[in-house]
Order: sequence, then structure tokens, then C-alpha cells
Amino acid sequence: MKINGIAYRSVWLDADGWSVRIFDQTRLPWEVIPLRLTTWREAAHAIRSMQVRGAPLIGAVAAYGVALAMREDPAALDPVLEALAATRPTAINLRWALDRQRAVLHKLPPAARAAAAYAEAQAIADDDAETCRRIGENGLPLLEEIAARKGRVQVLTHCNAGWLATVDWGTALAPIYMAHDKGLAVHVWVDETRPRNQGAALTAFELGAHGVPHTVIADNAGGHLMQHGEVDIVIVGTDRVTRRGDVANKIGTYLKALAARDNGVPFWVALPHSTLDMRVRDGVAEIPIEERSAAEVTEMTGRTADGRIETVRVVAEGSPAANPAFDVTPARLVTGLITERGRCAASEAALLALYPEKA
Ligand code: MRU
Repeated sequence: MKINGIAYRSVWLDADGWSVRIFDQTRLPWEVIPLRLTTWREAAHAIRSMQVRGAPLIGAVAAYGVALAMREDPAALDPVLEALAATRPTAINLRWALDRQRAVLHKLPPAARAAAAYAEAQAIADDDAETCRRIGENGLPLLEEIAARKGRVQVLTHCNAGWLATVDWGTALAPIYMAHDKGLAVHVWVDETRPRNQGAALTAFELGAHGVPHTVIADNAGGHLMQHGEVDIVIVGTDRVTRRGDVANKIGTYLKALAARDNGVPFWVALPHSTLDMRVRDGVAEIPIEERSAAEVTEMTGRTADGRIETVRVVAEGSPAANPAFDVTPARLVTGLITERGRCAASEAALLALYPEKA
């Protein structure tokens, strides 16, 4: 997708042919800085510190991290896979990408591993970009149907499931970009998504860069807007979908699903195949929920009037804070799933009909 008219992906190989470029998402939207990763440790740090984040992008950067490691020391495959897998626990795409690298590299002699790891990382990135484009195509009819009835579409989304969370296009935002490009009157309510503000900082940035009309709202405003008919559809991304269709996503997603159900607003979840975890059935009981630093709750970072980026404390001194980063929305609250193979119900039977090879 584009920033200032120039097309970017969120991760790419540098012109030197071996180092890896990402945007430092901890600096967005104030500074658009392409960061250069030269070691797998830098890739691991980028994932852990959320310089890159979003389930599919974490997977792609981890895959490039393996390539950097194989360039350095092809004998170190197993410890590197283990260390990268430990960077973040909830998004299953990380393990999916590392499993792909493991399957390719384990059977190769060390001397052949670096070239193969780069090729696999590139394939994972290309696959994600194409998958997300198809998610956009498969979600577009939902928005077209609403626009045909009402003349415009009001979408609410949570966190950032746009191109910055994937390699290109995004998941939840892909249908929105396509609808906007086709000339539909789309407006997006963007949940700010405390505590890290991925909505306010990243979703608003990328929608703005693409010219999509949007409004940032406090996380608690969605229910009120739904009660007053201001939300036609909710579309969110996800970090892991279980066999029966439970959906892990950024903390607060579950509350939006409850409000959507109470107000008869359709609640759709967009995902690529790499986000499906058929080994897990009960998402609430089985999906590990990342607990992040309390400082993300007690502090906020922003730009001052004179242009400095500063972090300030927003919680009373001495009060402890808790920071569960994800929650699970049970399948019964999900209207349906938008995938690269089409739309389906959030159920085991429907998922297996779309992905029989995952049975
Ligand atoms: O903690 P983050 O920013 O990595 O969390 C990201 C989300 O929860 C996204 O909504 C999800 O990964 C879907 S991204 C296509």
C-alpha cells in the first residue's frame, strides 16, 4: 500500500540483497523510519519490542530472521527457531512461519540453508500479500451489499489489521481499501485500542495515507455508536482462530462483539490460513494470552506541540496496572469469517469445508 504515493510493503529485502527492512512501528505515525535488520537477534528484538507487530507480519519477519541466522551460522537452526518462537506467544502465525522454515531447512546440509531460508522467507511474504488481497476480494461483497441498501457503509474496527499488520493490504482493512478504491462511500470508526493505541497510531495513519475517511474513537464509544445506528458492520483481524471458530484478537475485541450482538450489528473476522490453529478448540481455555508490561498502561507516548516524542505517566503514582494484551471472542458471537478462500461460519464444519487439508 502507499505512503505519500509510494508503494511499500511492511517488510522487504534491502537493496544489498541480504539485510531486511521494516518500518519501526513504535515511531509511527510521527516518524516513518525504515529500520535495517542485520542479525536474527535484531529481528527477535523487533518482534518482542513491537517495532513490528500484527500476526502475519510477525511471522514474515521471523522467517527473515531465520534467513539472517542461517547466513551467520547455519548450524544454529534449532536454537534460533526456539528463540524466535519465544518472542510473542499469542499469534499463531509466528509458529506457522517458523515451522515452514524448519520443514525446508532441516533436510538441507548447512551450506545450502541460507539461500533456502531467504527463498522461503520471500515465499512467505509473497504468499501473505496475495492472501490478504484475496481476503479483500472476499470481504468486499459484504460492504457492497450494505452500500447498495444504505448508500454508505460505516465500519468499526479494532486495533490494526491493515497492511502494517501484514505484508500488504491487511486483513480486516483489505475489503475497506477495495471498497474505497471502487468508489463506495466507506467511513471507518477506528477504536484507539489502548494501551498501545494501534488504532489511533497505525490504523488511522494507514487509512489516512490511502485517503479513506475515518474517525478515531475512544475504545468505549463503540457500544454507544451501535445503539444509535452508526455502525453497519464490525470487521476485525485476529491472532489465532481455533478449530471451532473462537477468535483471539487485541484486548477489547470481545466487548465489541458483545455490543455488536446486543445491537444486531454483524461482527466479521478476517484471517489468512496462517492464523488458523486446528490443534486448539476452546480458545478461552487454551490460547496463551500475552501479558505485557504494566508500563504500557501507566504511560502514554505522543508528540508534543513542538515536535518532540515524549512518554508521560497517566496513572496515579503507586497504583499497580495489569496488561493482558489479547482476549478471546467465542465463536457464537462471530457472524462469520472472511478468508482468502471465501467467507464461512465460525464453526469447525465450515472451516473444514474451506480447509479440508487441515483436518
Ligand atoms: O499486539 P499486536 O499489535 O501485534 O496485535 C495485533 C492484533 O491484535 C491485530 O488485530 C491482529 O494481529 C490481526 S492483524 C492482521
